[in-house]
Parts: sequence; structure tokens; C-alpha cells
Amino acid sequence: MFDIRKKLEAAGETILREKFGESTTIHFDVSMDEGRGDLTTSAALQVAKKLGKSPRDIATTLADAFGKLPGVLSTEVAGAGFVNVTVAPAELTKGFSAVRTACLPSKKRKEQPVIVEYSQPNIAKPLGVHHILSTIIGQSLANMYRHLGYETISINHIGDWGTQFGKLAVAHATWGTKPIENHTIDDLLELYVRFHTEAEKNALLEDEGRAAFKKLEDGDKELRVFWSAVVKITMGSMEKMYERLHVTFDHTQGESFYEDKMAPILEEGKKKGVFKLGEEGAFIAEFPEETKMPPAIALKGDGSTIYLTRDLAAANYRINTWHPQAILYVVDVAQQLYFKQLFAVLGQLGWELPTLEHVIFGRMRFADKAMSTRKGNILRLEEVLDEAVKRADLLIAERGEKIQTDDPKGLAEMMGVGSVVYGVLSQNRKMDMVFDWDKMLTFEGNSAPYVQYTHARARSVLRKAGSLVSVSDIQELTAKERTLIKLILMFGETVESARADHLPHKLTNYLYELCQAFNSFYNSDEILTAPDETRNFRLSLTKLTADVLKTGAELLTLQVPDRM
Ligand code: ARG
Repeated sequence: MFDIRKKLEAAGETILREKFGESTTIHFDVSMDEGRGDLTTSAALQVAKKLGKSPRDIATTLADAFGKLPGVLSTEVAGAGFVNVTVAPAELTKGFSAVRTACLPSKKRKEQPVIVEYSQPNIAKPLGVHHILSTIIGQSLANMYRHLGYETISINHIGDWGTQFGKLAVAHATWGTKPIENHTIDDLLELYVRFHTEAEKNALLEDEGRAAFKKLEDGDKELRVFWSAVVKITMGSMEKMYERLHVTFDHTQGESFYEDKMAPILEEGKKKGVFKLGEEGAFIAEFPEETKMPPAIALKGDGSTIYLTRDLAAANYRINTWHPQAILYVVDVAQQLYFKQLFAVLGQLGWELPTLEHVIFGRMRFADKAMSTRKGNILRLEEVLDEAVKRADLLIAERGEKIQTDDPKGLAEMMGVGSVVYGVLSQNRKMDMVFDWDKMLTFEGNSAPYVQYTHARARSVLRKAGSLVSVSDIQELTAKERTLIKLILMFGETVESARADHLPHKLTNYLYELCQAFNSFYNSDEILTAPDETRNFRLSLTKLTADVLKTGAELLTLQVPDRM
């Protein structure tokens, strides 16, 4: 979108080569500080030492040459040897059509698909607040991939198989008071919790649970019916949450999906010597000493399968079905060792593998003591979202006249849910997240309401303006216009870099800066009352801002209102 950037970089490289005999690549940054040009490079500083020349002399040579390029308004040497370039208005506005294109889904790439696996809750429990991390990070990555033209397959690998079912079956048989299909998700949770409390006193229960799962795996009819009922209840309660969060999956393929796909892989692994007989009849995979990884169990001594067995089958199935170029597993950092082991075993099996990445995220911490010291087992996502909506409601009421909406309920939902989502995505996923109501639900700062409000403000200007007129070339730009334009032009590359690094917070940070730039433009440059030519130009900036905000927000699953 900054076509001139590439031209400047190429020109700079030519000069360094021809005048100084130095072949190197040079790079321009977009500078956001007013009075420091639009694009800036430290190339002269980088080569000066090697060339034994003064950086300012090299910078001056570069600046003089850049000044002669078409589209450059002026250049200056700054500080120890930076070159700042100010770009002509027409050169900047040339990039607008590319921004409009970047707001639409890109043309499909002729590449292998990318699989993004996320959310993956364990069944028989309601979604907890921590589930929002994988769910939302994964969904926004999938959205970005799709938007950028990658064929994208999103999968919910729910934990619907394994010992926890055996435990639940034992709990229901022992303390259940009604048929399983009459249970709500809370009833299931209660049974599950009861099992764990009682198991602390009675160790035999754990064995019974394991045995029940073994029986289920061996095909016991009654247990199968029980299992289906539990899956149905849990899925029903999850669907509601996904809808609220604007989360969708192409496939919900839980661990049970691989039930009949594990045996051949276990056979293959045994034949290839990847799975060796370990203690008590279990089969294990071992890793070279330097990896310092403990062995991983592939099949338990009693012949029942395990988490890893199902992941091996899942990878195999995905590779054979879709031939993906990459599989991303958006999963808690706590499973880091596990995924290293999984990827290592996949390597040992000798299959041709796509790029495998464990997209980690940190833990969630609560600024609100009541949330972190909460009694009982689980802080439910639904409760947290409801609380957020309640707080949004209050915030709207507080603002009174300043907020205009014909759908206060819908707006509160959008703001409340959006605040939680944005609160998560605005933090670097690699660090622990801090869940802080005060930071999330505010009209100031890096928050959903701020982005939503700014979007609504821009739309409101556009509504008042009526139809838009296209603008002929603008001759001069105010400082605020210039900053806003630069940010608008950076939309495409920001989405690309957030996708490439799998870091949604790069996009939230960008949206925040864009909002700030728009608001300071709005506060200092009159739009609707400006003379025709200027008015039309400023309206086109307003329209671009609104479109970029909406597109960017929706990639992050954040909804933005047209009015508020
Ligand atoms: N259900 C698992 C859990 O809650 C996460 C699954 C992660 N995905 C995977 N392919 N293992 O811990």
C-alpha cells in the first residue's frame, strides 16, 4: 500500500552500491511522530562504521537522491544520520484503492489448506472463562487466514472420549437420581465434581472409572447410549456460547471421531519400532536423550487408548483428508511438553508432515479478587459474559444522552461480549492475560467500547453527509490527516503480519491507533462544514476509517455498531 516505500528502498540500495560500493538491503519504517516525515530509514547509520564515513554525510547523499524521486515532497537528515522522507499527498492517496481491496476477502490462493484447531473443551462440563482464550485466539487466526485467501479449515477437537466418561458413568450409576438425558450441563458438572470429592476418600473409584471407560471403548451398548446423551447435552450448551462469540467451526471432530482410526496407527508404530513395549504391557514412544523428554504412552497397559493416541490418529486423518500445508493447535502453554512429544512421535512415524505449530497462550489472571478466589470449581464463561453485558448496560446508562441507539439491549450485548473478547485479544497471547473489568469496559483506552464508539462516530458523520463525492487530487494535508492516512495505508500489512506471527494483538493495537488518529482528526479538522473539496476528501477518509475498523474488528470477532 505504500508503493513508494519499495521505490525508496530500491533507490537507496542503488546509491549505496554505486556511490559507496556497499551492497546491502535497506528498510524504511513508517514514522508516526508528527514532524519526522512519513518514512524514515537508519540505513546511513548502519553502513557508516563499515565504510569509515560519517553517517550524516552518507545520509545527506541519500536524502538528496530521495528528494529527486517522483512522489517525494521533501527530505531531511535528522539526528545522528536518519533520513526522513515526506511523501506528496497524491502519492499517499494512490494507496487508497489497495486499502479498499484489503477490506474485502482476498482472491483464493492456489495453496494447500491451513487447518486451525481451537476451543477443544472437554465435554460434560460447561465452558469455563479460560476457554475463551483458545476459542477467540483460534477464531481470529482462522478469520485472518481466510480473509487473506488461504483455504482454511477450522476444527473443534472436543475432548469427548477418555477416562472422564468412565468417571461420569460411575458417578451417575452411584448417585444419579434421574435418567441421563434429563440432566442439564450443571447436573453433569455436579456429578463430575462429586466423583472427584468422593475419589479423594475412596481410591477404588478411580479404578472403576477407568474400567468403565475401557468397557465403553470395547463397545458396551448401555454406556454408548449414556455417552451420546452426555455429548448432546454438552454440545447444546456450548453452541449457545459459540453463537454469542461469533465462533464457527467447519468441523466438530472430537476425540471420539478417531475411535476406529487408532488401531492401524498403533500397528504401524509397533511395526516401525516407534512404540515399544513398556511397563505393565503399555506401549511407549521414547525420545533421544538430548531432548530431555520423558517417554510418552501411546497405549495403556489395559489396552485402552489415550489422549496422544487420538492426536496421532487426528493428525493422520487430517493429513490424508486435506493435505494441509500447516496445522495450528491453539492450546494452553501448559501442554507445551505434550505437543513437543506429539510432534516428535509424528516425526518418528516417518510420514510426510505439514508445518505443525503449537500456538500457545498464557494463563488468565484476574484483577478482581472475587473472581480468582472463587469457590467451587469453575468460573463459567456464560456468567462472565452476562456480567460483562450487565456492566455494559450500566456504562450505557451512565453516558445518558451521549449514546444514541434504538436497540439498547443489542448494544449492551455487543459491548459486553466485545469487551471480554477484545480484552483477551489486545494482550500478547504468549504472556499471562490479565482480566480486568476496568480496563475492558471503558470508553477511553485500548478497549472494545472505544473502537465501537469510534466506528459509530465515523458512520454517523457519513450518515449526516449523505452521498459521497469522489475527490480529485488533494494538494495539501493537515498533520492530522497525514497521520490518519498513514495508518489507513498500513491496514493490509498489519493483518498480514498478525496472521504470519499468529499474534492477534498486533491487529488490536493497530485498530486502537487508528481510532486515536481518527478522533484527533475529527476533533481538530472540521469535516461537514469544510469547503467542498476538503469536505469531500475528509469524508472519504472517514469512510475508509470506518471500513477498515469494521473489517479489522470482525476479523477479531468483535462486532461494531453503526450507531451508539
Ligand atoms: N481438550 C484438551 C484440553 O482441554 C485440549 C485439546 C487440544 N488439542 C489437541 N489436539 N490435543 O486439555
